[in-house]
Amino acid sequence: MVEIGWRGHRHLLSIDQFSRSDIEDVLGFSRKLRPFSGEGSELSILRGRILKPMFFEPSSRTIDRHTGAILTMGGKYNPPLIPEASSMEKGESEEDTVITAAQTSDILAIRHPERYAPHKFAKLIDNLKSNTARVINCGDGSNEHPTQTLLDFYTIAEELGTLDGLTWLIVGDLEYGRTVHSLVKGIQKFSGNKVIGFPVDELRLPQEYRPNGYHEFNFDDLANVASEIPRGARVVLYATRVQVERIARKRYPDYDNLDEIKKKEIQNGIYKEFKYQITFKLLDALPEKTRLSHPLPRGNEIGNDVFNSHSPKVVPIGQMRYGLPVTMAYLALFSGLEEMLHEPERYVTSQPIALQTV
Ligand code: NCD
Repeated sequence: MVEIGWRGHRHLLSIDQFSRSDIEDVLGFSRKLRPFSGEGSELSILRGRILKPMFFEPSSRTIDRHTGAILTMGGKYNPPLIPEASSMEKGESEEDTVITAAQTSDILAIRHPERYAPHKFAKLIDNLKSNTARVINCGDGSNEHPTQTLLDFYTIAEELGTLDGLTWLIVGDLEYGRTVHSLVKGIQKFSGNKVIGFPVDELRLPQEYRPNGYHEFNFDDLANVASEIPRGARVVLYATRVQVERIARKRYPDYDNLDEIKKKEIQNGIYKEFKYQITFKLLDALPEKTRLSHPLPRGNEIGNDVFNSHSPKVVPIGQMRYGLPVTMAYLALFSGLEEMLHEPERYVTSQPIALQTV
């Protein structure tokens, strides 16, 4: 029996577990929380709750938005797990490390290089006598990254006003990019969307993730396809990094044991091989209501000129900021606290500080 969680799910593991209206509700609660997501705001909704980031793979943004969100919601976090600095160095198994964390933390935010690892850990916790901890999948190998999709959807809904009737141009590494896999599954829950993939070379979207009516071209065809999109269309240009480390692991089975210099050399070689870039020329050729979105980190696919520009078409930096209210929302929902999100203003313990303009 599921005692704690949201709408029949204790854990947040896949975008598949969300219906369209579940996603709309997450986005609606995120909107309500947004005024309390920075500049000195604090709420008491997650008071006393403890989050544990467990990153068996590196992360910058995802750790920070989880720790930032739990603190803003009035909770706390235990220091992020870094495998080399934990008892795993003494030979403790990953399973025991997760069981241990589940005894002192309420929410485990887990990222792992293996597909379905967070699902496996969730099952392990469900079978324990003391089993209340929830797992949030923060990326399982090349499979999925469902929380990134929630924040990608929030970004696009804020920027273009809808998640229906959009043209999605998905570019880059569609084979190994897990954010793409969750995204294309999620898009299918909405209506009237066109999904067109533009993989770089052979990094094509695997069959298991392909939506109905999916078309795929090569990145080199993007400019031509772009010029044929009706001017009034709402377009999302979703660019992704080539997952050099996953390609390297496939090519060199001993990759993880190589020294850092050799790893960098291999990575740079792969980046050169799968080179592509989104330029202003391409953005200008797309309709006015186009938004360039990227889960980040970026490789060379977005140059500094585009990345740092103030063009309304370029949203990757704002997208990171949108991540905070979305993370606040699902942490509360999966803690069984939906009720409190209807009126978050009732739980304000610290008001945003009015910024002085200079
Ligand atoms: C992505 C990931 O880890 O899958 N990053 C993120 O969480 N925003 C994308 C990537 O690594 O390229």
